[in-house]
Amino acid sequence: MSDMRIGVGCLSIGSKERQYLLDVLDSNRLSYGPYSRKFEALFGAQHSCQYAIFCNSGTSALRVAVASLKETDGWEDGDEVIVPAITFVSTANVLLMQGLKPVFVDPDPRTYNIDPSKIEEAISERTRCIVPVHLFGQPCEMDPIMGIAAGRKVRVIEDSCETMFVRYRGRPVGSFGDVSCFSTYVAHLLVTGVGGLACTSDAELAVILRSLINHGRDGIYLSIDDDKEANGEELFQIVARRFRFVRLGYSFRATEMEAALGLAQLERLEEIIRKRQQNAAFLTEHLSRFSEELQLPYCPPHSEHAYMMYPVVLRDRKGSKTDLVNFLEDQGIETRDMLPLINQPVYVQMFGEMSERYPVADWINRCGFYIGCHQELREEELQYIVDAFSRFFQSKARA
Ligand SMILES: Cc1ncc(COP(=O)(O)O)c(C=O)c1O
Repeated sequence: MSDMRIGVGCLSIGSKERQYLLDVLDSNRLSYGPYSRKFEALFGAQHSCQYAIFCNSGTSALRVAVASLKETDGWEDGDEVIVPAITFVSTANVLLMQGLKPVFVDPDPRTYNIDPSKIEEAISERTRCIVPVHLFGQPCEMDPIMGIAAGRKVRVIEDSCETMFVRYRGRPVGSFGDVSCFSTYVAHLLVTGVGGLACTSDAELAVILRSLINHGRDGIYLSIDDDKEANGEELFQIVARRFRFVRLGYSFRATEMEAALGLAQLERLEEIIRKRQQNAAFLTEHLSRFSEELQLPYCPPHSEHAYMMYPVVLRDRKGSKTDLVNFLEDQGIETRDMLPLINQPVYVQMFGEMSERYPVADWINRCGFYIGCHQELREEELQYIVDAFSRFFQSKARA
């Protein structure tokens, strides 16, 4: 076991974060206030969305995104939603919790994102929505996905929990769907501990989303500042309605502390993304000598990659990643599975054995993993990763 420790994510708390957090404490205001408002405005603008609603997780953002469309469009229990066959479990969990049926689609074997050419065949009379998931920092092929959605008149929710600040054909992720959802959980691109954002440019949806994270409260009063500037008849209207609940909602709010952390990092996002892209380029340049064994990330020229993670898949489709993953872990290099879904015990229980129906997902589940390429990694750590891969393949060649 090596002394070196290379994690999949990092936490960089700089002087800005400290300053903003102290400011929050000095302001004596923890609930939705100036930091949350500023964070939302800047984050929304970065993704060309008119409204950004900060809440306590990416999962909560997804949950209210689904609930809001179910409400506006009158979806019924048992209606279907298309999701990729590899993603974090919560993408599909929120659908089931909302009474909807996830319909899985195999990913593209090169980008690992949902394969648009397989979406049409998964669509039925009851399909209401497609949820493309921009995995590992890379946008999905949004043009064909949006084309299918428009042709079939189904909604789109972007699960962009792993991808921020990058563009597909010049347009930012998060700006394509009816609602887009982001996560600021630990090891993500922005880290606020817990946190998430639901973004939209639809004013009606924005009110419903904010109401849903606030127990389903009447849209007239969704923060304690909403009666501050009002007077006369307007104030009396707010007073009459501010404790009214108009839908079944959740308690999904975040605090000014998370917003302060998010804002501080947002102000240096270019540096964060540039460093990740440089680290990924280093890994790709030096690991490509093993390209017979390893499939390294591929980003088409019309897309950008934020490299939340650096995915690696063993090309041998009958193989297994276990030896390589154990070797890397033993060398202090942390790895994670590439978001297996269809083989999770709870999903097998509900949907049965699915590996034959989704051969690409099955291959990625058995042969794929990711390592970190975050902004805190130094060149000697990146070199250490490359050397560890070399040692593994040398020892295999000798065996
Ligand atoms: C693709 C995807 N969707 C949803 C989530 C859920 O985000 P959170 O952990 O903030 O609830 C994650 C989190 O890792 C994710 O990777």
